[in-house]
Amino acid sequence: MKKILITGGAGFIGSHVVRLFVEKYPGYQIYNLDKLTYAGNLANLKDIENKPNYHFIKADIVDGDAIMKLFETHRFDSVVHLAAESHVDRSISNPMEFILTNIVGTVNLLNAARHYWCENLEEKRFYHISTDEVYGSLGETGFFVETTKYDPHSPYSASKASSDHLVRAYHDTYKLPVVISNCSNNYGPNQFPEKLIPLIINNIRHNKSLPVYGKGENVRDWLYVVDHARAIDLIFHIGIDGETYNIGGHNEWRNIDIIRLICKLMDEKLNREAGSSEKLITFVKDRAGHDLRYAIDSSKLQHELGWVPSLQFEEGIRKTIDWYLENQPWLDEVTSGNYLKYYEQQYDLKR
Ligand code: NAD
Ligand code: TYD
Repeated sequence: MKKILITGGAGFIGSHVVRLFVEKYPGYQIYNLDKLTYAGNLANLKDIENKPNYHFIKADIVDGDAIMKLFETHRFDSVVHLAAESHVDRSISNPMEFILTNIVGTVNLLNAARHYWCENLEEKRFYHISTDEVYGSLGETGFFVETTKYDPHSPYSASKASSDHLVRAYHDTYKLPVVISNCSNNYGPNQFPEKLIPLIINNIRHNKSLPVYGKGENVRDWLYVVDHARAIDLIFHIGIDGETYNIGGHNEWRNIDIIRLICKLMDEKLNREAGSSEKLITFVKDRAGHDLRYAIDSSKLQHELGWVPSLQFEEGIRKTIDWYLENQPWLDEVTSGNYLKYYEQQYDLKR
């Protein structure tokens, strides 16, 4: 029986990964370790919290002693590591949290795995979840492949790049059985509304202005979160030790175009006059060091492991909007309290 430690399982992507593993593999014991920062929310996992193979551990990966003790107690044989500070804008205003959680936290997990995984290494796996942002920014053409040189620009992407390097170093130096994936921008249910898509949906709901950084010409490659979770499942089970896999949906959108599409769909859903949400669009000061374009070539994952995204974007974005409209208490809960302070600080500066 596998004992899998999933870190950051109360967050956006982590909650989809935990649900998939708990439901698909009743024979595995799944331990969701999460500090429950502002981004972690156990309400994301209400539907599976009573399953016999699901366990929650509240802990901070920055606390190395606590992580060692948890390995001692539970003897995990695999780690799927998603816990991170994940928002670029927050990394610009407060980089240290990113250094601690994303770099020190990852090393604490690597050290614990290295310490406790002394034998049967072929049955162990340390899976580190990373981002395409480590590759930096593309111009108008081209795609990130697994061998693209790292060139991170934000404290967030630099901290993720550092953690990727450390994971590879533990593989090369200590033979730790690791695998890494780098994914493009995710969207879907349960994403915290500091990120573009849920922020726009929430602001339209409240008739608040829609802040577009710069001219809205930056391009992101959007993947439905459940398709990311499916890729993680596949890589966890059949990915090759020491390898890296890029994950992305070949689905590039300029920010302004995706915002206009959400405006149109929200007008329809909320029975508002066509064009009324678009009037809320407000161009604001650009993000510092704003990467122009991300686009992933996921052909290695498709050809070697047989992954294909299941959803077309048009369907995924409709499902996403429906989820937020059907779960307004969830949105209201996460956008109360500290969120209001964050929003004021972040967007007042940008006016
Ligand atoms: P998220 O911010 O929604 O969730 C992060 C989770 O980690 C939260 O539950 C939080 O409580 C937990 N956490 C934070 N600091 C912790 C600590 N010190 N100890 C324990 N738990 C802690 O993030 P997400 O968008 O779900 O991203 C998950 C992972 O996927 C991250 O590693 C991120 O870099 C990567 N990723 C995200 C995207 C994306 O578009 N969101 C794309 C590619 C890769
Ligand atoms: P975000 O969701 O923060 O993801 P990332 O920065 O990791 O790609 O932002 C997606 C894009 O949307 C990015 O180019 C920045 C832009 N953006 C805005 O224009 N306005 C906003 O309020 C936010 C949060 C993002």
